[in-house]
Parts: sequence; C-alpha cells; structure tokens
Amino acid sequence: MKKPAILVARAIFPETLAHLSQHFEVDSNQADDVLSAAELTQRLQGKVGALTTGSERIDSALLQANPQLKIVANMAVGFNNFDVPAMTAAGVLASNTPDVLTETTADFGFALVMATARRVTESEHFLRAGKWTKWSYDMFAGAEVHGSTMGIIGMGRIGQGIARRGALGFGMKVIYHNRSQLSPQLEAECKASYVSKEELLKTADHVVLVVPYSAESHHTIGAKELGLMKPTATLVNIARGGIVDDAALAKALAARQIAAAGLDVFEGEPALNPELLKVPNVVLTPHIASSTIQTRLAMAQLAADNLIAYLTKGSALTPLNQPQAKA
Ligand code: GLV
Repeated sequence: MKKPAILVARAIFPETLAHLSQHFEVDSNQADDVLSAAELTQRLQGKVGALTTGSERIDSALLQANPQLKIVANMAVGFNNFDVPAMTAAGVLASNTPDVLTETTADFGFALVMATARRVTESEHFLRAGKWTKWSYDMFAGAEVHGSTMGIIGMGRIGQGIARRGALGFGMKVIYHNRSQLSPQLEAECKASYVSKEELLKTADHVVLVVPYSAESHHTIGAKELGLMKPTATLVNIARGGIVDDAALAKALAARQIAAAGLDVFEGEPALNPELLKVPNVVLTPHIASSTIQTRLAMAQLAADNLIAYLTKGSALTPLNQPQAKA
C-alpha cells in the first residue's frame, strides 16, 4: 500500500527523517531553503501532513489551496505562525512541542539575564577589539544578579523555570505578572509573588518576558513601559519578536533610560532593527533559547510523533485544536 505523503518544511535531524519515513513518503527540504508562502503552498500539494517551524505561516489561503491537508505539526512551543481558528475550520489539526524545551529555554533565559546584567558580550567585544590595556576600578561594572528583584511577565512553564532558578539558585526576590495568578502551591514552589504589570516594571531590577505572542501581547513593552523601569534595570526578551517595541527599546538603550537588554527574538526576524546594532548595551542572540542538540532533537521527534499518531491512529500527542470534520 502506498504510504501517505508528508512535507518536512525545513531541514531536520536524519534520525527524525528516518522515523517519519517508516510511516510516510517524506518530501524533506534538507536544503533548508526558507519557502515563500507560494512555494510552501505548492510544495504541500498532495501532502496530508506537514512538519513546520516557526518560519512557515499556515493561513486560510494556504489551507484552501490544500484541502487534502490533515495536520500541521509545529516544531516549536509557540504557534503564532498558525492561524488556529482557520485550521480548525478547515479540519486541520495543529500541534506544538510543549514541555520538552521548558528547562533548556529557562536555562537560556537565565543565561541572558546574567550576560545582560554582567555585560558579558559588551566586555568581550572590547577585549576582542584590543582595547583592554589596564585594570580599572569600574570597568564594565554591571548590575547585581544575586539578591536582586526579578520580574517575570508571562508565568507559564518557562517563566516558572526561570523563577525557580532565580529564587532557589540566586536568592532573588521574584515577582511576576500573568493573565491569571498561579495557584498558591505553584507560587510557593516558585517563591514568586503576583503583582500588577506597573508595579513589576517600577520595582524589578531584571525584567524577563516569556509571554506568548498574540494581538493582546503585541508591544507589551513600549516607550511608556520602558519609562516606568528603573534606570539601572535590565530587560530580557526570550518570548517572541513583537512583544517589545524594538524601535522604542533601541532609543531607551541609547539614552540609558534603562541599563541594558538581552534579546533572543526580534520584530521581523531574522531582520532586526538596525538601531539595535548601534547600541553597546544589548546582548543579541539569533533565537536560540531552545537550542541544545538534545532539546532540538526532542522537539523534532515530538513533532514527528504528532504526525505519526494523528495520521495512523487519529489522535495527536500535543494538539492545539479539535478540528472540525473535513467538508
Ligand atoms: C521557540 O521560539 C519556540 O516557540 O519553541
């Protein structure tokens, strides 16, 4: 019997391809070309499933042109590249990769807090440029991390992981803001207290953003919010581009309205606001918070297992919707 056809939209681990090939005819983009909407629509013809990354947009135009499609499995926990209501209406299951990346991503969030507060990349650039000629008492003096106050906006699994690291490992006071308050038990485990967004911005020494992207969370941090922060404070964004108004942030950093920022995600990435490249007090990384070999492999395998479970047994492991019956 002919195996069902699927598309793997970007290059992937060979072991994940081998796993998928046991069940499907796999068309894999191992060349890792970033497909335009038209190319993706075309390449999906005849495919019942797709494994995507955050770079591929799944919207109603693409779904209409591919009525045979049954599932799109995103290799990411975030899924703002999916129009989930359109997928549900088109009878297409959407899945993501929660849990497997939580601790790795929390590690990276903490790494950015440390690198930003302690000016790790800024001082490395100085050293590499051959400018280090003598010791001086305030050279790259940064902000204290241990014992300081960390404010986390978005207290899902990753936010909680960062809170635990801060409170238990670094003796930080942890405050958080979230759509809903955590249970008293979770708050006690994370040693975190709920505060308003305004209070968080006014009192935190280090603000960390881990909120999912949506129309409501667009520009959670803009000029007004930056204006509330302490001039000594730092800001870390490991959530999504668009959660921060990057133009406003670049201005605030240039004016030293806040001390420093650490960014793993950008509005319009992989392009980024050129003003961010001009300011020294920002640590910039190319969306790698979940990137360890073990975690990226676990994400790829979970996305593959969603495709296999749904297309062979009719139920996915980590679904995001309950698709309507296909017309
Ligand atoms: C990465 O940004 C993810 O959503 O997994």
